[in-house]
Amino acid sequence: MSSSPGHHVILKLEDISKVYAGTVAVKHANFEVRKGAVNVLVGENGAGKSTLMKIIAGVERPTAGRILLDGNEVSFSSSGDAVSRGIGMVFQELNLFGNLSVAENIFATRELTNRFRKIDHKEQERRAAEFLEQLEAGIRPDMLVEDLRIGQQQLVEIAKAVSLDARILIMDEPTSALSAAEVEILFKVIADLKARGVAIVYISHRLEELIRIGDHITVLRDGRITGQEEMRQVDTQWIVRQMIGSDAKDFAKADGHRPGEEVFRAEEICLPRVTGGLAVDHVSLSLRAGEILGIYGLMGAGRSELFDCIMGRHGQASGRIFIDGKQVR
Ligand SMILES: Nc1ncnc2c1ncn2[C@@H]1O[C@H](COP(=O)(O)OP(=O)(O)O)[C@@H](O)[C@H]1O
Ligand SMILES: [Mg+2]
Repeated sequence: MSSSPGHHVILKLEDISKVYAGTVAVKHANFEVRKGAVNVLVGENGAGKSTLMKIIAGVERPTAGRILLDGNEVSFSSSGDAVSRGIGMVFQELNLFGNLSVAENIFATRELTNRFRKIDHKEQERRAAEFLEQLEAGIRPDMLVEDLRIGQQQLVEIAKAVSLDARILIMDEPTSALSAAEVEILFKVIADLKARGVAIVYISHRLEELIRIGDHITVLRDGRITGQEEMRQVDTQWIVRQMIGSDAKDFAKADGHRPGEEVFRAEEICLPRVTGGLAVDHVSLSLRAGEILGIYGLMGAGRSELFDCIMGRHGQASGRIFIDGKQVR
């Protein structure tokens, strides 16, 4: 393990294990969180990242091991307990109330009240607006959460965590539903928190993202920590090796397989958006027998809409569809 004199260790996990019925999710983990730094945690699905973070955030209790905060042993009986010690977490799963406003969500369970002990909506909206302004994502405090795009909802979740004024802020896959522009906004927020001395724990499996914003990196594999380094000491190869236990040279194997005739083709598929513009913008694709076609895109990019169009579920869709070379639409 490398030591870095620049960043003071604010929280330390010692020999932490977590056993669920049937699974050991975390095995003897030692993990340090440093102040004023982005502490990256990476690992494959199921490696135990969320479990480890839920232990820090008071959501789960460790089966064994110690948690040291500022050098003192602590134990959290609830997430409220961790929040009161300055530890906040942005969960992987969105935890918002769709039928409440953005401001009501940000202050949920710690509502601001006026002198008549009623919820002070005006004050909540004023305070929420301050956090939302930082995000520059066009989200107003009085908007209903269910009317926001998924990426915007994720930003609200982040604003909610930032508003806790935590000393340690854990972000579990915060960019999974964000567009490229929204990711840039988040990175600005993170830089700002870092400058204010906040310790950030950042979980993601997008390697380019981690390398860009991380100061320290910890890799989990199958519940065990397999590597912990300063980010500037490592490269992608090192990360992948710690994650999967070997080099990634045989990820893609060519097997000499030859695809057959074209069986399906879609040309220039378009779907207008109710609010203007196109949800699906002139997409064409072709599929041959014995071939697997992968479709990649962020949430909200139009993947589902494209296939809804192909399946004939949108009357307003346009474009041509061919099966075995014959046009069917
Ligand atoms: N509440 C739970 N009950 C039982 N098993 C769980 C629970 N939460 C997670 N696990 C298991 O623990 C392991 C680690 O999960 P998790 O911490 O979510 O991994 P990651 O966040 O790295 O994808 C997985 O095998 C998962 O199925
Ligand atoms: Mg997870």
